[in-house]
Amino acid sequence: MKLFAIFVVNLILISSSVLAGPIDVTETEETYPTTVTEEPSTMTTIVETTTEEMKTTRTPYHSSFKNTDCNFTACVAPDCQCLQDLPPNGMNIDDIPQFVIVTFDGAVTVTNFPYYQTLFDFKNPNNCPIEATYFVSHVDSNYKLVHELYRRGNEIGVHSISKAKNNNQEFWKYLDYEGWRQEMGGQRQILSKYSEIPIGKIRGVRAPNLQTAGNVTFTAFVDENFEYDCSNPSRRGINSPFFPYTFDYGFQRENDCQEKIIPGFWDVPMNDWDVEYEVQGVKVHRECAMASACIMFNKDGSVIYHPTADEIYDLFEYNFNHYYNGNRAPFPLFLSEEWMHDEAKRNALQRFIQDKLEKHDVFFVSIDEVLQWMQSPTNVHEYIEKTKQCKPIVKTKCGLKDGEIINDISQFKRKCDYEKIDELNGQSKRMVICDDLHCPEHYPWLNRL
Ligand SMILES: *[C@@H]1O[C@H](CO)[C@@H](O)[C@H](O)[C@H]1NC(C)=O
Ligand SMILES: *[C@@H]1O[C@H](CO)[C@@H](O)[C@H](O)[C@H]1NC(C)=O
Repeated sequence: MKLFAIFVVNLILISSSVLAGPIDVTETEETYPTTVTEEPSTMTTIVETTTEEMKTTRTPYHSSFKNTDCNFTACVAPDCQCLQDLPPNGMNIDDIPQFVIVTFDGAVTVTNFPYYQTLFDFKNPNNCPIEATYFVSHVDSNYKLVHELYRRGNEIGVHSISKAKNNNQEFWKYLDYEGWRQEMGGQRQILSKYSEIPIGKIRGVRAPNLQTAGNVTFTAFVDENFEYDCSNPSRRGINSPFFPYTFDYGFQRENDCQEKIIPGFWDVPMNDWDVEYEVQGVKVHRECAMASACIMFNKDGSVIYHPTADEIYDLFEYNFNHYYNGNRAPFPLFLSEEWMHDEAKRNALQRFIQDKLEKHDVFFVSIDEVLQWMQSPTNVHEYIEKTKQCKPIVKTKCGLKDGEIINDISQFKRKCDYEKIDELNGQSKRMVICDDLHCPEHYPWLNRL
């Protein structure tokens, strides 16, 4: 069996050229330690096969993670889950659904919404529409369109009020407890109020730039009634990704960055993606928490600024197969809003979705849905039975009319105009909210919802 050496790759030069270039890598990865990739020998034998062949040829998955922090006797579903790289309740890997969690971070606007709309038509194997999770930031968001995403069965989560202004690691790293409450709890209330979403349905949060400030952040999340966080990159790579777990026994990993114990609060680990390329004949790996940041590299490690849809699709496929042929942890497709502005990226995503939905056991669902499954796990057959009564798409006052096409902001009824907003360096903004609401007197902001 072929064993890989440990490659220590200094990516600082590559990373800074990425940032200097035209590609918008909003969720920067640079604060995380440089990649040290060790390829377990088992994964080098993976070959591409058809679904049928995989059933018979796939290597049984062996857990490589020892969790010594969690009490597996005391920590049981539905309220508690230990961190592990195996499915909950001792379920057999071959029987469980392969969930794909697609998330988009950023503002929901007239520009990106029509692209999001194209996802509405795909159907999971239970014949219900696929779902995604949108972590919505405040500035430039169109709250009527956020409502429509929600009405269509997607999950709405929180990505802060001021991200557009404070788009840097430092701000979030040093933000205090009160600041986290205002940023995230505040945006939760803004979303509920102006998009008319029941506040209890807004359960999840993702820190801007994936930067938390340790335990104060999580304490603030809990105190603002969030039920899960999805901001913690996990450097376990694609061979043994984690399943979601609760903070009952803290972080449960080596190099704990926080020991906060929060019973029942879920952490959805951002399992890394992997890009493989070659520098002077040596295979190297780059890991990224956001698929958006895992932009393609040429064979020599230089950056491709405009990867083709085929290249992107191959990257998706390479990462997905490790999950599907591995432990079937929820497959992360974590994208920033910018993803949808690029035709090649859009096409690759759509092709990937279409392709994977041909499998009987792959489901594109919201994080919320995955967490419900974690609390009462079922096999594929039971899952289809349980969910085939699709969530109804109800008519609401705020929803779009059937067939309504989004052209530009002028078509919306409730447009609220604000001149010279102090917090935005004197910029003006036009904010669209649900039709039956009154415009707030001032542009909503921290402590001014
Ligand atoms: C784990 O939990 C069980 C059940 O609550 C308890 O009896 C046991 O002492 C705990 N083990 C440890 C090591 O704390
Ligand atoms: C966070 O952790 C530090 C020590 O690591 C502790 O002093 C502080 O009280 C904790 N804060 C909260 C809000 O839990």
